Amino acid sequence: MQPASASVPATDERWSFAHAADLQPGSPKSFRYRPAWRENWETAKKQLLSLGPEFLIVGGDLTADGWLHPWELREIRAELDALPFPVHSVPGNMDTGNKHTDRRGAWWPKRDDPELNVTSLSLQRFAAIVGPLQWTFVHRGVRFSGAYLAVAGTGLPEEAAFWDWLEELGRLPRARHHVFFSHYALFLDHPGEPNWDITRGDQYLQWYFGIDQPHRGRILEAFQAAGVDLAISGHIHCRRTDVFRGITFYKAPAVCFPQMARYWPDGDAALGFTRIEVTPDGLRPTFIPLQYEAPPRPGYGPGGHPGPECRDYSLAWEPMAPEDRQY
Ligand SMILES: [Fe+2]
Repeated sequence: MQPASASVPATDERWSFAHAADLQPGSPKSFRYRPAWRENWETAKKQLLSLGPEFLIVGGDLTADGWLHPWELREIRAELDALPFPVHSVPGNMDTGNKHTDRRGAWWPKRDDPELNVTSLSLQRFAAIVGPLQWTFVHRGVRFSGAYLAVAGTGLPEEAAFWDWLEELGRLPRARHHVFFSHYALFLDHPGEPNWDITRGDQYLQWYFGIDQPHRGRILEAFQAAGVDLAISGHIHCRRTDVFRGITFYKAPAVCFPQMARYWPDGDAALGFTRIEVTPDGLRPTFIPLQYEAPPRPGYGPGGHPGPECRDYSLAWEPMAPEDRQY
């Protein structure tokens, strides 16, 4: 994943990059596997190859269970490295662990939320195998930055590094545009919405998908100080665009499977990725639907976030290498 090169800005040029999120192809060596998710990623890869973007941003959830299985991180890294354009990735919760909570949520006992909290171990594993947890670079006069917003509020060493890095962005030289990539959305409906209650069944998903206060407000201030004009997130698997305080918030489509299809009347959970054209007038995201959405095919294992007692590796279709037995 070599970095995209910085170059002198030119005001008349038009070019494009691509963004894909929530690939989650999974692994037949795992306790669960859905062949359709792998098939959808293969379809997206073919379309990306024919599109030929200057670079690709992967908006988190590169893996189905990379937070448990380092081999999934290694395999997707190899796939992304084989693409003929540079790739820059931000971590997702399936790669590293979830936003922190100190209590079990409304989906207990099906889901034990504190057990899913992101850890330093999983973050450092992502950094070692895939790439830096946060990064920023300028390409053709446009700044691109990416980070894992869910470290906010964790108290992990990675949180202090995140804030230092984020707030430094505002002190860097201004580019023509600034695009920020994260896996979690900063908010579901509005930056001023309340912190959702994880213990309430009617608020669990809102809690799961966004960032809580006071971190949300601090991140938004940092975005404004750094001149962010487009913020792109994944995780929700439903496409929608909002504009607040001059920043366009683009909730990106997923590659693997749809979610939250009925949450917003104007949301679209169709699968695909995004081509973002950079023109003298600004940044223009265009949804590229998958040419073919794989129908559900027989797979195995549980969905969601199953506990250790529900992870049966004897179901696996392929044998795991001895060195991979470190989950
Ligand atoms: Fe996610």
